Amino acid sequence: MKIIQLSDPHLMAPGGLLYGSDPLARLDACLADIGKNHADAELVVISGDLTNDGERAAYVALRERLAQFSPPCRLMLGNHDDRALFLEMFPDAAAEQGFVQSVFDGSEGRLILLDTLDSGHVEGRLCAARLEWLDEKAEGSARPGLPLHAPPAFPDTHAGA
Ligand SMILES: [Fe+2]
Repeated sequence: MKIIQLSDPHLMAPGGLLYGSDPLARLDACLADIGKNHADAELVVISGDLTNDGERAAYVALRERLAQFSPPCRLMLGNHDDRALFLEMFPDAAAEQGFVQSVFDGSEGRLILLDTLDSGHVEGRLCAARLEWLDEKAEGSARPGLPLHAPPAFPDTHAGA
């Protein structure tokens, strides 16, 4: 099972730079490489932070890119993202109970994609509703589920991220 995870693109509005680098150009390079060398991927997960500032223009840019991207793709939120705006921009995104989380049953087992966004906080959170959903989805799997979430924030390397 080939699964590709791209994490923390921190997209800006087109033309915007982040620490001197263009996150959108970097995403374009990743997507082009996947299209060229890994088009057989069973799933591509792009986990948050999808955007650096939760900007509409950054979500629009992401949506435009994914409209031309072939492998199945799921998006996950990070603490810099805006869940309501994201769902407005990606109404077809896999979502459960208002959270951007879903189950992917692949050839080798089940992936459980979790929404740990706790708006206004850097650290993630799984509230009672999300934990209950996780229990339900983990029990419904024929094989052990693999929970997938945004990488943990390490204070030394990802401060405030
Ligand atoms: Fe981040």
